[in-house]
Amino acid sequence: MIEKLQHKFALSREGAVDMVKACISVTVTNIVLMASAGILYLLISDMLGEGLRTERIPVYVIGGVSVLILIYVTNFIQYNATFLSTYKESGVRRTVLAERLRKLPLSFFGKKDLSDLTTTIMSDCAMIETASSHWIPELIGALISTAIVGVSMFFFFDWRMVLASFWVIPASFLLIWLSANAQKKAVRKNNGVKMELSDGIQECLESVRDLRANNAQDRYMSGLETKIRNVEKHALFTELKLAVFVNSAAIVLKLGIATTALVGGALFASGEITLLTFFMFLMLVSRLYDPMNITLQNFAAIIATDVQCERLDEVLSHDIQTGAEQMTNDGYDIEFDHVSFSYSDDTAVLKDVSFTAKQGEVTALIGPSGGGKTTVSRLAARFWDVTGGTIKLGGMDISGVDPETLFSAYSIVFQDVTLFNQSVMENIRIGRKDATDEEIINAAKLANCDEFVSKLPDGYNTLIGENGSELSGGERQRISIARAFLKDAPIILLDEATASLDVDNETKVQAALSRLIKDKTVMVIAHRMRTVAGADKIVVLSDGVVAEQGTPDELLQKNGIFAQMARLQTEGQNWSIA
Ligand SMILES: Nc1ncnc2c1ncn2[C@@H]1O[C@H](COP(=O)(O)OP(=O)(O)OP(=O)(O)O)[C@@H](O)[C@H]1O
Ligand SMILES: [Mg+2]
Repeated sequence: MIEKLQHKFALSREGAVDMVKACISVTVTNIVLMASAGILYLLISDMLGEGLRTERIPVYVIGGVSVLILIYVTNFIQYNATFLSTYKESGVRRTVLAERLRKLPLSFFGKKDLSDLTTTIMSDCAMIETASSHWIPELIGALISTAIVGVSMFFFFDWRMVLASFWVIPASFLLIWLSANAQKKAVRKNNGVKMELSDGIQECLESVRDLRANNAQDRYMSGLETKIRNVEKHALFTELKLAVFVNSAAIVLKLGIATTALVGGALFASGEITLLTFFMFLMLVSRLYDPMNITLQNFAAIIATDVQCERLDEVLSHDIQTGAEQMTNDGYDIEFDHVSFSYSDDTAVLKDVSFTAKQGEVTALIGPSGGGKTTVSRLAARFWDVTGGTIKLGGMDISGVDPETLFSAYSIVFQDVTLFNQSVMENIRIGRKDATDEEIINAAKLANCDEFVSKLPDGYNTLIGENGSELSGGERQRISIARAFLKDAPIILLDEATASLDVDNETKVQAALSRLIKDKTVMVIAHRMRTVAGADKIVVLSDGVVAEQGTPDELLQKNGIFAQMARLQTEGQNWSIA
């Protein structure tokens, strides 16, 4: 049962055990509360019958005090099992989720967008939190205690009265249960439009500069407004749908008062039950139906949480990239062996790509935009797994190596550098977390960062704003190069690493890079001929296939794509704004 609960509500083992404890304590609390009504019943029937006898008083006092103590104890257990462990549990759940996200292949993030995942981590978890801490234990506790009370009344009092007052409970729950699918559908749709809106807002904030530059603000804003209206419409619709079912169930529940009064009246008139029994059932239904009404709402909410649980389960049960934690490579040659790849199932981005990037050599990937250069460099570090063929590092198939172990061999400088809202020092330290300040400053000097960092108000301790928003493109890229210097890994992947540097800086960084890449396996993606002129090998990727490969001289003689690109760029250098 524990395993089922774990799976159903995305709980840890401890969380599922706590949920069972909470259910039991809610049940006991409810029964104890009802037992107090039983004591009251005995007291009244004593008083109405033979009058209150003094020798019975201690029994009532002891009974009353025990009930109070029991209520205190069960409430305490309930508090521990629900509130306290829920917060522990939601902490555990979010950590498990984050741990899982860390191990998921990047292809997963390609399919899911950021706001979707943020929603899962924040609001889906919060929803499940409330469900497992309140709704579920309260629902189960209420059902079990009501069933126990119903069954005991069935035996000790009149069974017809029990039927007349209890029939509405299964009937109203059935009504909500029958609406489950319709509800889930509405919630799913509602989630969808909410996600579209949060995507839109995020996109708007990220691209505010481009929107302004293109005078597209108004157009974009009206699109956002439609999304907001959509969310409003669907939220109302979902609430309305829910309200129809919950209110109908509540009306069914209220019918119980009428049937209890009718049946009770008839049985009392024919002398089959006493006035006290009749009165007690009337008391019972008025006490029972109000909490049942809340329980019905909880039940409906629990049904809706299923959607959140499914979303969470999708992340938790997605295949992660695993592999050996020991590398068995011999050297650091990277060999692409008939590699094919597609981001999604339909279009192949790489087709039968074979080449070797040798250790100690610079292999330049060039070719027209969209040809697959960035994809090749991502695959080389197992950001994605290939669709066909193999990629070997020193003879070892990288698809069998744990990505984190594999990454230790790579230093990567991307086209788009990610910086964190921390000091320059900490941003460079990402390259190697145990590096000393001196080592960081050395790496920064090698990457030509020193000069601009010394102009910042706090030097290396200056905070650089969210994603380095206070730095220029070239500066950001130099920080990223400094990270690579610091990491000093045997393989270097550079994706247009020097693209946003001015000529002066580029020359300096190039000099530093040639120091860095000595004896290493270097794969560089470059558009500029100057960057690739010194390469040992050039691989021309066009439309996902290797169109040409060889030394620069060989390719120039071949007079193919590379020679043409070289010619175009030389012409381009003479280009100017007339
Ligand atoms: N995350 C992704 N999901 C789906 N398709 C992608 C993704 N990234 C790239 N592509 C597609 O794969 C193809 C190759 O892209 P890639 O980025 O490797 O080209 P590139 O040679 O690096 O281009 P550029 O010179 O413009 O940087 C393109 O058609 C691109 O649209
Ligand atoms: Mg690219």
